[in-house]
Amino acid sequence: MCGIFGCVLKRSEAAPLIRAGLKRLEYRGYDSVGEVTVHQRRLFIKKDSGKIDEVHKLHNLDDLPGRVGIGHTRWATHGAPYQANAHPHTDCQEELAVVHNGIIENFGELKAELVEAGHAFRSKTDTEVIAHLIEERLKEGLTLAEAACAAAKRLEGSYAIAVVSLKEPDKIVCARKESPLVVGLADDAAYCASDIPAFLPLTNKVVIVEDGELVIISDAECEIRKISDFKKVPREPEIIDWSPEMAEKQGYPHFMLKEIHEQPLRLRNTLRLQEQYLELMTTFLDRAGEVFLVACGTSYHACLAASYMFSKLALLATHPVIASEFVEQHGRSVNIDSTILVVSQSGETADTLSTVESSRQRAATVLGLTNVIGSTLTRVARVYVCQQSGPEIGVAATKTFTSQLSVLSQLALRLAKKRGKVSHVEIEELEEKLEQIPEIVETIIRLQEDKVKRLAKKYRGKRCFFFLGRGISSAAAMEGRLKLMEIAYIPSIAYPAGESKHGPISLIEKGFPVVFVCPKDETHKTIVSNIMEMKARGASIISVIEEGDEKIKALSDDYIEIPKGLPEVLSPIPAVVPLQLFAYYMAIENGCDPDKPRNLAKSVTVK
Ligand code: AGP
Repeated sequence: MCGIFGCVLKRSEAAPLIRAGLKRLEYRGYDSVGEVTVHQRRLFIKKDSGKIDEVHKLHNLDDLPGRVGIGHTRWATHGAPYQANAHPHTDCQEELAVVHNGIIENFGELKAELVEAGHAFRSKTDTEVIAHLIEERLKEGLTLAEAACAAAKRLEGSYAIAVVSLKEPDKIVCARKESPLVVGLADDAAYCASDIPAFLPLTNKVVIVEDGELVIISDAECEIRKISDFKKVPREPEIIDWSPEMAEKQGYPHFMLKEIHEQPLRLRNTLRLQEQYLELMTTFLDRAGEVFLVACGTSYHACLAASYMFSKLALLATHPVIASEFVEQHGRSVNIDSTILVVSQSGETADTLSTVESSRQRAATVLGLTNVIGSTLTRVARVYVCQQSGPEIGVAATKTFTSQLSVLSQLALRLAKKRGKVSHVEIEELEEKLEQIPEIVETIIRLQEDKVKRLAKKYRGKRCFFFLGRGISSAAAMEGRLKLMEIAYIPSIAYPAGESKHGPISLIEKGFPVVFVCPKDETHKTIVSNIMEMKARGASIISVIEEGDEKIKALSDDYIEIPKGLPEVLSPIPAVVPLQLFAYYMAIENGCDPDKPRNLAKSVTVK
C-alpha cells in the first residue's frame, strides 16, 4: 500500500524525477515520504512524515545530488508515520538504503537475529530488517545483487524492494514477491516503480517483473534473475499504449471526476476485448461444476450483479462471495469441479489473491478479470481478461466498475449463447443494447450532472442515507452506498428493498433520505410499494428512474432519469453513474478530497 520509485539516469539529477514519480504514486499511500540518492561515494537522504508537497516544502527534496536514487511514499502498516519510520531505511554504516512496499511477516525473528549479531535498528518498521540482512551478506563479499537475493530468500510475506549501495553506486537492485513492481526503459534512463503511471510521462517501454524475481537496473538497462536460483531470465520489454495524459487529470479538478467522464470511452474498449480470452473463459464457465464470483469492495458489487446476469441469461447459478470470507464460508467445499471467477481491478488485493491461493491448492479452476496487465492476478489465473479501463488513479473505483459490469454481462451472454438459453432475437437485442451503453452513459453525464450537483447541495446536511434496489439494482444501490461512504464519509446503508420491513425501516423519520434505484424491469411493481412504505413514514425519496416513469416521479421528492429501454441485466451500468456523481459532489460539498479519501488506499495489499 506504498509507492516506490527509482531511477538510474545517464545525465540529469535523479531527485526531482523521483519526487515527480512518487507524486504520481501518492494514491497508493500518503502518510510519509523519503528519497535517497548516491553521489560521490555518499548516500544523501531526506525523509519525513506528511504528504509529498508538505515534506518537499519543508526539506526541498530536489536538492539531493546524484544520478541514481530511490524514493518511497508510505502507507503505514508497521510503525506509526513518524520521520524515523519513513523510508528509506539504511544499514548500520549508512552505506546502503532500502525502500519497500508490502509486509515482512517474519521481521520479528529476523530483527532479533540481527540485533543478536550486533546490528542497531533506528525504526519500528518491518522494512529495516532488509537493509541489515543485505549488510550481513555484503560483509561476506557478495555482490549487491547476490546479497539482496540472499536477503530476499529470508523474507516471508509480501515485498517490492529497491536498494542502492555505495559499494555499487551506479545501480539499483529490486526484488518482488506479491507486491507490484515494474521497470521502465528509456534511451538515457531506467526506472523502477510500483505502478506504470509513475514513469509513463518518461517512457511507455515496460518490463514486467514477475513474482520471485530480482532486477538489476543500471544505465538504461535491466537484468532479471530468479530469486530462487539467481539464474538469468530473458524478458523483452512491452510497449504499453497508455498515454501519459491518461495518467494526468486532463483539466478535471479530480481524477475521480475525470474517470467518471472517461466511462463512455472505457466502455467502448470493453466491447473490443480479445475474443479468444472471452471465449476461453466462457468455455471454462460452461464446464464448471459450480461457480464462485469472488472479490472485495466495488469489485464484489460487480460480482453480485453478475450473479443475476448469469442466472437470468444462462440459467447458471453462481455464488457471489466477499473474498475475505471465502475461505471461511466455502474453503472446504471447493474442489476440482469448482471454478472461481476472481474480479479485481488492481489484480493485487490481498484478500482476493488469498482466495486464489487456497482454491488452487484444492485444484479449482481460477479465472481472472482485472484492469492491470502484469498484476499478480494475471499470473495466478488459469485464464484472465484485462478489461482495458486504463489506469484508475482515484481511490474510489468508478470506470473500472462499469467496465467490469460490461465484461461480465458479455461473458453471461456468451454462455447463454453457448448453452442455447436465449433466442437469436434476444441475443441480437442484447448485443445491440451493449453497443449503445457508452452513448447512454455519455447522455446521462451530459444531461444529469448539473442536476446531481444541485441534489448534493440540497441533501448536504443529511447524516445518513439508505440506498435501495431490487434484483440486480440492489448491486447498483450497494455501489452507490459504498461511494458515498468512502469519499464523503456519510454513514449509509444499502440492502435489497424487500428487506426494509424486516428491520431497517425503523430508522425512517421525516426527511430521512432514501435513494431508490428502480429501472422499469420485473421488480418495478414491487419497488413502487417499497417507495410508498418509506414515503408513508416521512422519508425523502430520491429515485434513479427511466425517462418518462411518471409513476415513480410522482412519488419522489427528487429523481434522476436514465435513458429507457435497457435490458434489466445491463441496467446497473447507467444506473450507477448518477450515484457516482452524487457521491463525488457530496464529497466536494463536505470539503473532502475525492481522490485521497482518509483511511483508504487504491490497492489493499494486506489481509
Ligand atoms: C472501491 O472504490 C474501493 N477502492 C475498494 O472497495 C476496492 O473496490 C476494493 O479494495 C477492491 O479492489 P480491487 O478491485 O483492486 O481488487
